[in-house]
Amino acid sequence: MTTPTAPGARTLADFAGTIVLVGAGKMGGAMLDGWLALGLPAASVVVIEPQPTPELTALTSRGLKLNPPPTAVRDTSAIVIAIKPQVAPTVVPTLVPLLAPDTVVLSIMAGRTLAFLESALAPNTALVRAMPNTPAAIGRGITVAAPNTKVSQRQRELVHTLLAATGLVEWVTDEGLMDAVTAVSGSGPAYVFLLAEALTLAGTSAGLPPDLAAKLARATVSGSGELLNRSLLDPATLRQNVTSPGGTTAAALDVLMAPDGMAQLMNKAVMAATKRSRELAG
Ligand SMILES: NC(=O)c1ccc[n+]([C@@H]2O[C@H](COP(=O)([O-])OP(=O)(O)OC[C@H]3O[C@@H](n4cnc5c(N)ncnc54)[C@H](OP(=O)(O)O)[C@@H]3O)[C@@H](O)[C@H]2O)c1
Repeated sequence: MTTPTAPGARTLADFAGTIVLVGAGKMGGAMLDGWLALGLPAASVVVIEPQPTPELTALTSRGLKLNPPPTAVRDTSAIVIAIKPQVAPTVVPTLVPLLAPDTVVLSIMAGRTLAFLESALAPNTALVRAMPNTPAAIGRGITVAAPNTKVSQRQRELVHTLLAATGLVEWVTDEGLMDAVTAVSGSGPAYVFLLAEALTLAGTSAGLPPDLAAKLARATVSGSGELLNRSLLDPATLRQNVTSPGGTTAAALDVLMAPDGMAQLMNKAVMAATKRSRELAG
């Protein structure tokens, strides 16, 4: 898949060095697509991936190195870890031979802390822990990144560029915020998809044929999202702008904005996800 160039992304065409991607699954693959779309030469990329897709294997003809022996990897500017958190304790320590003196390690693994990465890699390694989200697959993600104290300005800029290839990037200094970030933007796409599901079911209950209800819900959620994306107005103003006093929208919002309505439900959901993220962290 080719990722459209993300807003605010910079070029990687003049990048000199090596980027090592560990895990080219859904998220790692989306990031790689984004880097190549920014002009990163395939010959600057090393990918470690036990089950490469045909698309990934095809990139070796452009110079991408797939599963080379560690001794063949030189000048590592960045290692990007995009494997599942569960396999991290066995995989991350194997990356130590790939570290060069000024390598920055970027991990997008949910729940894997800077302390874990510090203990699994060499002491004093420059590290960034980041949380992307699934719209990264179309260059419309948002990622929050937290660096350790070893990250230089130059390394931070490289990481920013690598992350901006799939969408917006925000930096925080307090790693403790990552649990709430995970609950809001990491898990958030699922809440939006649920909204489309619920709207479909409600439309069917209101008498619409299921196919039509699904089409209306999909177009309404995605179209409203794009309207919000393009607008300078905040969501509350956009909502008020489509709500006439005493009208149909107002009747629905009286239900959704009741004391036990959507805001309270979303608050409970985000609290539950934040708590679960804290429990899983390590
Ligand atoms: N997807 C998201 O929306 C999202 C959002 C935020 C954060 N994340 C984080 O991103 C990471 C990747 O998630 P994902 O959804 O992209 O998962 P995924 O599609 O399963 O990708 C993980 C990839 O790593 C590969 N892998 C397994 N063992 C490996 C090893 N020893 N060395 C190198 N590669 C190995 C897997 O190969 P096999 O298939 O052969 O096991 C797979 O291709 C996770 O840590 C997740 O927490 C994902």
